Amino acid sequence: MKSIDRASVLITGGSKGIGLAIAREFASHGHNLILVARDRDRLEQAASTISSRFGNSVETIAMDLCGENAAEQLFETVCQAGLSVDILVNNAGAGMTGSFARGDGSRMTNMLKLNMLVLSQLTHLFLQPMLVRKRGRILNISSVVAYFSGAPNWSAYVASKHYVLAFGKGLARELKGTGVMATVVSPGPTKTDFVKTADASHMRAYQITGGSSVEKIAAVAYRACQNGKVTVVPGVFNKILAFLGELHPRAVAFEVFAFLSQKKEQS
Ligand SMILES: NC(=O)c1ccc[n+]([C@@H]2O[C@H](COP(=O)([O-])OP(=O)(O)OC[C@H]3O[C@@H](n4cnc5c(N)ncnc54)[C@H](OP(=O)(O)O)[C@@H]3O)[C@@H](O)[C@H]2O)c1
Repeated sequence: MKSIDRASVLITGGSKGIGLAIAREFASHGHNLILVARDRDRLEQAASTISSRFGNSVETIAMDLCGENAAEQLFETVCQAGLSVDILVNNAGAGMTGSFARGDGSRMTNMLKLNMLVLSQLTHLFLQPMLVRKRGRILNISSVVAYFSGAPNWSAYVASKHYVLAFGKGLARELKGTGVMATVVSPGPTKTDFVKTADASHMRAYQITGGSSVEKIAAVAYRACQNGKVTVVPGVFNKILAFLGELHPRAVAFEVFAFLSQKKEQS
């Protein structure tokens, strides 16, 4: 399998957490970057740290991907700047825990938009020039929860990550022989700002595992993407979780994950 050298890599949510670690990993292998996120200052800080350490070109685009026609606007901005994208990393995602019925409706809409709709739109737009060039990679970030048949207390988030996994697997098969490959990476609980914004710190899943390292996730993601691997779950514990999630009867796996989704009582 031929890996892509000196690629131009667009990473959504590349300013912090898993996305920033993926950005550093690609930069360390000599690729140029385009980082996208909302907070302009943090984005520029990330870009200047990466380019001074690795000497790569790092462009930034500050944009809310939940905004009106965001995917089209991002694609236009990239084209107008004369940039091309060989590798698209759909990493930006939001999470939400707690009761679905009592949760905030507009937050839920934005989460589903970012995790599924924008990810699909960006894939569709950036895929076209890759197919013409017969060269490219799509790297989508799902979650280990995608391997479970569902989970209470974050029902909509888990379902959105199912979408990312199922979409990625189907897409990878469709792209066979085109020179473009699609990979889905499904990390387990990882201590990033996501835990706070999704209000997930109280969950057993986060308290039991202590969290994966973003650097390890990024290294696994980079290798899988370059090798055209369709799916990958970083870390042994998460691989076991994913395996459990797919075990039959799935009702048992559902109960295991319901347990992990609950609040851990303080001793
Ligand atoms: N942390 C975990 O436990 C975990 C586990 C499995 C999977 N994941 C997945 O991993 C991915 C990255 O999560 P993370 O843990 O690294 O989260 P994070 O630390 O909160 O980072 C999220 C990134 O996405 C950007 N972002 C968020 N909303 C955006 C929007 N509307 N428009 C543009 N950019 C936006 C953020 O920057 P701004 O805020 O400046 O926009 C930031 O760069 C997500 O898809 C998540 O579902 C996380």
